[in-house]
Order: sequence, then C-alpha cells, then structure tokens
Amino acid sequence: MKIAVFSTKPYDREFLSGSNAGRGNELHYFEPALAQETARLAEGFPTVCVFVNDRLDAEVLETLAGGGTRLIALRCAGFNNVDLEATERLGIRVVRVPAYSPYSVAEHAVGMMLTLNRKFHKAYNRVREGNFSLDGLLGFDFHGRTAGIVGSGKIGVCTARILAGFGCRILTHDPYENPEMKGLGGRYVSLDELLAESDIVTLHCPLTPQSHHLVDASRLAKMKPGAMLINTGRGALVDTRAVVHSLKSGRLGALGIDVYEEEGELFFRDLSSELILDDVFSRLLTFPNVLITGHQAFFTKNAMEEIATVTLDNIGAFERGEKLANGVSAAQLATTVAPPRPSRK
Ligand code: NAI
Repeated sequence: MKIAVFSTKPYDREFLSGSNAGRGNELHYFEPALAQETARLAEGFPTVCVFVNDRLDAEVLETLAGGGTRLIALRCAGFNNVDLEATERLGIRVVRVPAYSPYSVAEHAVGMMLTLNRKFHKAYNRVREGNFSLDGLLGFDFHGRTAGIVGSGKIGVCTARILAGFGCRILTHDPYENPEMKGLGGRYVSLDELLAESDIVTLHCPLTPQSHHLVDASRLAKMKPGAMLINTGRGALVDTRAVVHSLKSGRLGALGIDVYEEEGELFFRDLSSELILDDVFSRLLTFPNVLITGHQAFFTKNAMEEIATVTLDNIGAFERGEKLANGVSAAQLATTVAPPRPSRK
C-alpha cells in the first residue's frame, strides 16, 4: 500500500518505519501538515496518514478523493479534525488508534498537577541559580483532597487509579458509568457538583459538538475558589479567554494544559526564533501558576510503538477488505462518544 504520511517528525519515521518492517507498505513521509495547500502531495496515494492538527475539512477531503485517496488513517484517538459527513459522501473510510497508552496521558496529567502544586518548575531554576529559598513554593497534600475527573473512559480511569493511590477522593462525571471507575471508589455526580467540590478538575472527555467549551465562564464560576484545572483532552474543551479572565481575578488557582484551542498554529514546531502572534496564548505564558506543554502527553515510547503498529494494522485490514474494527463514522461524532458499557445513567 502506498501511504502518504503527513506532519512527519523524525520520531514518526522511526516508529512507523520500524513497525513497517516485513509489511511491505510504501511509506512516503511529508513534513508539512495536511491542509488545502498541501493536499495535492497525496495525489495517487490510496492511503493518507495524519495526526491531530492535520486539517481534514470538506475541501481538503474533496482534493484527496480527486487524487484517489480511499482511506484516512489517523495516528491518534481523537477525530474531531475530520469532517466525517464529507468522508462518507466521498466514499473515504477513516480509521484511528482508539487506545495506545492511556497511562501515558494519565501520567502526564498527574505530572502537571504535581508540578503546579509543588512548583517543580520554579524549584528547578532556583536551585540551579543557588537560590534555596522556599518562599512561594508552598503546596498542599493530595492525600484527602477531592479530584474531579470529567470523562471516565480509558484515560480517566488511569488518572483516577493514580490519584486514588495518593489518597484522593474521586468524583467523576460522564454520561456513561464505567464499573472500573466505580471499583476505584469514583462517585458519579453532575458536572456542577464536581466543579463545586473538586480541588483539582481534570478533563478526559473527547471534543464533540456537545463538549465544545465545556468549561466556559459560567462553569469556571462554579469551581471551588483556588482550584486547579488540567486539560490534556482537546483545547476547545475549554474557553481559553474565559480561563485567562478567571486566572486574572484569582478565582482559578492553577492551570495545566497540554492542548490549546489554537494549537494548530503553534505546536509540534520549533518557533523559538519567531514571534508568537497569538495574544491569548502569550497572556497565558505570563501567569506563574500556568503550566503549558505542547501536546506531548501521549509521547512515550510505549505509545509511539502502539500507534505505529495499530495504524499499519488498520491499513492492512482495509487493504485486505476486512471489517475495520477501528473505523470511525459520522454517527460517532454526532453523539457523545462512549465505549459500550453495561449500565447507562
Ligand atoms: P474514551 O473514549 O475511553 O473515554 C472518553 C469518555 O468521555 C467516555 O467515557 C465518554 O462517555 C466520555 N464523555 C464524552 N463526552 C463527555 C462529556 N461531555 N462529559 C463527560 N464525559 C464525556 O477516551 P480516552 O482514551 O480516555 O481519551 C479521552 C480523550 O483524551 C480523547 O478523546 C482525546 O481527545 C484525548 N487524548 C489526548 C492525548 C494527548 O496527548 N494530550 C492523547 C490521547 C487522547
């Protein structure tokens, strides 16, 4: 199979080429992201392999279909960047990697919580400069605190397991109940109750039309004063301007984000010698109680190996005309996504 791989970084080549050994696919690596300007690079490729910030709107998909593309292979779980109605109209199938390492994202989310709480980022710099003062580094014990987990799927459960290990009380919100979450002592509550009671709120639900700006000004106002908000889900789960406002007023105690609404213009590139023109993002960087990472929560060796293997397995299944176990359909995006579960609230 001829595969056009967009948004290729050296690590994508390493893991995809490694996993392709013995499979015989012809992998063509393109550094640029997929967009209307770059879509013609895929002409003659039946399969196009993309990542989180590649654009797959109707216009791009029409160009791809015109060039003979029949399969979009996402190297990620989320598919909010794909116009699935257009793919169905154009006869293009879409596959994804539904789970590659929920541990990678959960561990990163908890790492962000610990950093914001115990100020590791500040302590690291201070000690290197010979400043051993503890002023401003005061944190709190996680033990006995309440953690609110929005989205009790694979990553939400892993996060709950780690936080339960710290001795946190776990509240969760999800339209579907997950017995695993309940087994960890997680109590299902309304979003309002979760926001009002949690010292830490962490988002692990997908971005859907229903969850867009799930945390907006009114929800921020319902949070416990001084609480911490962590978002490793998708940037647009949070209204960033409202968050800036809440940070300025001192209501929101700390913010950790691995994803950002407008990250497509920034992340996965070295912009260190360029001007950052996004004023909202630049404002976020000025707060001492904000920690931003550039969509790296998934980035572990384990996850990269799994992403490469499942992506090439998905493509192989399509080539052999098999049922696509990891296929994505428009119906999934139109409704709240949840794995089949025994009990439904
Ligand atoms: P999952 O499908 O196992 O679980 C998602 C859960 O969210 C489901 O139980 C679903 O019912 C629930 N949900 C959907 N809409 C909701 C809403 N409005 N409110 C509360 N819960 C809602 O997905 P998984 O693997 O746990 O991943 C969660 C999200 O994490 C992904 O959709 C993706 O956007 C993000 N992610 C981020 C990564 C990163 O590197 N930062 C890497 C991988 C995933």
